[in-house]
Amino acid sequence: MQDTRQMSVLDAIVSRRSIPQFQPTPVPREIIKRLLDAAVWVPNHRLTEPWQFHVLGETSKRRFAEIRRDFRAATMPNPKAPEVQPALAKIVEDTIHTPVIIIVTAQGHDDPELREENYWAAFGAVYAFMLGAWSLGIGTYFRTGAFRDHPPLREEPAGPVLAWLGEPAALPGMLHAFGLVRASVPDARLIVIGAAPEGPRRTGVSFSGPVTRYRGLFAQAGVLVISGAHQRMPYPLIEAMLSGRATVCTENGGLADTVGLGASVVPPDDPVRLAAACVDLLTDERLRRELGTMARNRARTLFRLGGMLDSYREIYEKALVSRPEPAERLVGAS
Ligand SMILES: Cc1cc2nc3c(=O)[nH]c(=O)nc-3n(C[C@H](O)[C@H](O)[C@H](O)COP(=O)(O)O)c2cc1C
Repeated sequence: MQDTRQMSVLDAIVSRRSIPQFQPTPVPREIIKRLLDAAVWVPNHRLTEPWQFHVLGETSKRRFAEIRRDFRAATMPNPKAPEVQPALAKIVEDTIHTPVIIIVTAQGHDDPELREENYWAAFGAVYAFMLGAWSLGIGTYFRTGAFRDHPPLREEPAGPVLAWLGEPAALPGMLHAFGLVRASVPDARLIVIGAAPEGPRRTGVSFSGPVTRYRGLFAQAGVLVISGAHQRMPYPLIEAMLSGRATVCTENGGLADTVGLGASVVPPDDPVRLAAACVDLLTDERLRRELGTMARNRARTLFRLGGMLDSYREIYEKALVSRPEPAERLVGAS
């Protein structure tokens, strides 16, 4: 720990560095509180104070360590292999022995502009915390990465929420279905992933605005709906399955083969069936969780990088074996 008594704000800004490895020294609770009390004085537009700082206790830290380990394992071609076990165990050990872990969450917003400003303000608070910590001789490390949207880190949203993804031409069908959903589940909400079209606003419907990363939005809904025509490789559907949320999709262009039992598949252009599938899932938590888990397991098995590389290798090997010898090809060509 350095002598920081003379550190000016400018010195703290310039000298602060991310510290990836920590000493085991505990940080007193009063210090954390003092830093948090200071951090929340950052600017925030409309005074939304959108941040939440969750200081993990020992039990939560252990659970968080397991979630980090499982997340890392899911990216490995063979997470059960004996040679990767030490690396997975190290993630747990390092996490448990980190003196303080604070999970920072921020209030989203249906309005994309407010949402963005909330995230900026939350980052401001994090940075103020880090700077303050540095001025007291305490190192910090800010981490986000893909882990940020990992579904087990997020609870289901309060209340029945659908998120819909599809082509604009399929939106009227979805809005029709949503009207039927609300007849059975009056407080249902629908987040449409994409820009809002012209026209009057509908009760319970909000628009995310254009997005490039789906996972954060998927996490805001209990049930995902994908309908309309699709590309040959339905990436959003795979992403939905990996997110572990229960998904309803319309049968278009071989989607059923992709999802197997990992989603509720309904015929295209049938808002009544689409609505019924949504209602079933919104009103049955167990079904929702089962379908979400099945989807995640299937997507992990079929689309994990290692698995896909194995499949490609197999195809190449088969192609090599069946390739005709040059002489045969010459004969064939004559
Ligand atoms: C929004 C944000 C997210 C970050 N996420 C990660 C992360 O996921 N993993 C990581 O190793 N570092 C992460 N960092 C830390 C940066 O890598 C680090 O600040 C950068 O390398 C500069 O190093 P310094 O902080 O020592 O100046 C993040 C920083 C910011 C501001």
